[in-house]
Amino acid sequence: MTILVTGGAGFIGSNFVLDWLRGSDETVVNLDALTYAGNLENLKSLDGDARHVFVKGDICDRAQVDALLATHRPRAIVHFAAESHVDRSIHGPGAFMRTNVEGTFTLLEAARAYWSQLQGDAKSSFRFHHVSTDEVYGSLKPQDPPFAETHPYEPNSPYSASKASSDHLVRAWHHTYGLPVLTTNCSNNYGPYHFPEKLIPLMIVNALAGKPLPVYGDGQQIRDWLYVTDHCSGIRAVLAGGRVGETYNIGGWNEKANIDIVRIVCALLDELRPDPAGPYSRLISHVTDRPGHDRRYAIDARKIADELGWRPAETFETGIRKTVQWYLDHPEWVARVQSGAYREWVDQQYGG
Ligand code: NAD
Ligand code: TYD
Repeated sequence: MTILVTGGAGFIGSNFVLDWLRGSDETVVNLDALTYAGNLENLKSLDGDARHVFVKGDICDRAQVDALLATHRPRAIVHFAAESHVDRSIHGPGAFMRTNVEGTFTLLEAARAYWSQLQGDAKSSFRFHHVSTDEVYGSLKPQDPPFAETHPYEPNSPYSASKASSDHLVRAWHHTYGLPVLTTNCSNNYGPYHFPEKLIPLMIVNALAGKPLPVYGDGQQIRDWLYVTDHCSGIRAVLAGGRVGETYNIGGWNEKANIDIVRIVCALLDELRPDPAGPYSRLISHVTDRPGHDRRYAIDARKIADELGWRPAETFETGIRKTVQWYLDHPEWVARVQSGAYREWVDQQYGG
């Protein structure tokens, strides 16, 4: 048996592939375009492991996706590939429309053609699992209940609008064509291999370099943080037992204001790698707010808990400590990501 993962060289996708192969011998075919966010070093521990088949390619390339499906005949597609950074979507929304909307459309069409010719059990057990975000629901007020799956879609950034569009496409391909889809909408992830353009890894690497810690606006925006391997276990639970056509929210009931996250990271670094120049919090610097910045996200994760028995394994305290320790233990990963050296390696290895 085989699954096809898209975007498996990115932050969550690479954690998912590593986790999957820790718990199963089922082959993973990993289709990833290796944009700036894709990093094969994340998967180095799988070098020479026949259960991992890496394919460099674009989800917008229908011929390539068709060929992969025909060759590997996966029982499921788990679709992570996306442009994922809100700030980049503000500066250049085009890439988000292309990969997140057009790419998902292309993948759905290829999956539909492939699934249509399957027979019997292979057809009824096939799944297209779409990995999405809580940001599609928009922004909550302080007293609002957390996002349930029934919350209206109110995306506010080019990123969240592109993900909302992709969610709608997935829904429509189920309702119109019967494609057996599953969608998960997860809150903010953190953990190993997180590209240091996002809040938590950026704060860790900047603090260690003695650089300012840029907090947007008043820092009182709230996100609901989940350790990445808990997101992966949630996806596995939905893939295995989720009801076809349903969406499941995944979150850890862990709302925190950005400024508190930054203070927690600073305090952990003070403990684990004290700086003779003084506490890392001295580097906190409030900067201009992000345009259209969503004030609060929070996930109501009761559906996945009640239906599938899923619970996160990490608390925020255990997860953030592991994360900070991982960055302290992997300075070479950070340095190579920042220098772009890993991309040179990929060019060398894959001929650009
Ligand atoms: P990421 O930016 O770290 O990784 C994205 C991966 O997709 C990269 O490896 C990149 O090379 C690949 N990719 C981009 N465009 C591609 C294309 N056209 N064809 C093939 N591959 C392409 O993203 P992430 O944080 O790992 O997020 C993965 C998924 O999870 C996304 O769909 C995102 O919307 C969703 N999500 C992320 C979070 C989060 O906190 N990071 C939370 C909820 C949901
Ligand atoms: P981010 O990690 O970019 O995730 P998202 O925007 O998808 O939630 O940002 C998390 C929060 O941290 C968000 O409210 C924006 C804020 N933020 C900062 O305050 N400073 C920064 O340098 C970054 C990257 C984010």
